[in-house]
Amino acid sequence: MGRRVYLDHNASTPVHPEVIAEMLPYLAERFGNPSSIHGFGREAREGLETARERIADFLRVGKDEIVFTSGGTESDNLAVKGVALARGRGHIVTSRVEHHAVLRSCQALERQGFTVTYLPVDGDGLVDPDDVRRAIRPDTILVTIMHANSEVGTIEPVVEIGRVARAHAVPFHVDGVQTFGKMPIDVDAAGIDLLSFSSHKIYGPKGVAGLYIRKGTRMAAVQDGGEHERRRRAGTENVAGVVGLGKAVEIRAREMAAEALRVRALRDRLTAGIEARVPDVRVNGHPTRRLPGTANVSFRHVESESIVLGLDLKGVGVSAGSACTSGNVEPSYVLVAMGVPLEWAMGAVRCSLGRGTTAEDVDYVIDAVEPIVRKLRAASPVSR
Ligand SMILES: Cc1ncc(COP(=O)(O)O)c(C=O)c1O
Repeated sequence: MGRRVYLDHNASTPVHPEVIAEMLPYLAERFGNPSSIHGFGREAREGLETARERIADFLRVGKDEIVFTSGGTESDNLAVKGVALARGRGHIVTSRVEHHAVLRSCQALERQGFTVTYLPVDGDGLVDPDDVRRAIRPDTILVTIMHANSEVGTIEPVVEIGRVARAHAVPFHVDGVQTFGKMPIDVDAAGIDLLSFSSHKIYGPKGVAGLYIRKGTRMAAVQDGGEHERRRRAGTENVAGVVGLGKAVEIRAREMAAEALRVRALRDRLTAGIEARVPDVRVNGHPTRRLPGTANVSFRHVESESIVLGLDLKGVGVSAGSACTSGNVEPSYVLVAMGVPLEWAMGAVRCSLGRGTTAEDVDYVIDAVEPIVRKLRAASPVSR
């Protein structure tokens, strides 16, 4: 097999070998149900609680403020619907660039009679905290804004938005799936009441995640069942997965600062290399307030899926900023909300780097992308 280069870390990451080693006993001999009171159950419970402690320490919050879920999607659903259903009615403030887990939860609540304001963003993808202030009404029950956007990497001003929410005594949820374990986050300084995070973006296993819920936050359960997770989330916990998430967090706590610098340098080498070799290219997202490993690059007059498939033939994994839905190619809703012109939005490709990415990988991708784009443009009527 030829060279393979994975530049899709915002989609998922390989599980760290130390994480796998820590998980294995919980799939084998420590298989008990953590709710059982016998020795087998207690062993499983110990793994679960050690992980909870590691995550609580990392976030500098209480252990009883961490709830485990089946994914970032569930954490977002639980946060948004849990707060809304506890109140029964009201108004929610969010943005147009949230992940679908938040957007579609809001839309589901609208069908139940809640009202939602979807705030615009500027050309870099930023939400304006003053827009949040203006949107808040006497019946506002929740502000939910993501920390960093998964497509373009723009980091939202959550500290300023949190200040606004707090001044109006409105609970503040932050979807931190793309930043948790990649950069520091201070939930007290940012006035965050609920923070979603996920395991498989930080070298942990898939299908496990968590939600920080500040003590005293009024929440309804979204899933009915047993008394697990202090009645916040019914269902037997994914013990091995949670143990893996805990270990992944512990590793990120010691690695993330140096990794951010290393990955940012590689990301900048990638975009500079592409810009030097390929004409008619632009980088989407905020120039500086951006996830260190994320480069969303638009190639004018080329369809992103064609570039993704061309790179795939070269063993490179990146993701398309536009998607083919029912035969039509649609630009990304995030780029549309940012006002990126269609001819650029259609040719957006997201490269997201991670702990395994090397300078050789980056140079290989730069070399691979140039002839792909050149050939696609030669075959395209609009670019001639
Ligand atoms: C910002 C954001 N929120 C939520 C999710 C959903 O997380 P999960 O894949 O763990 O369900 C993702 C995953 O891409 C994401 O990027």
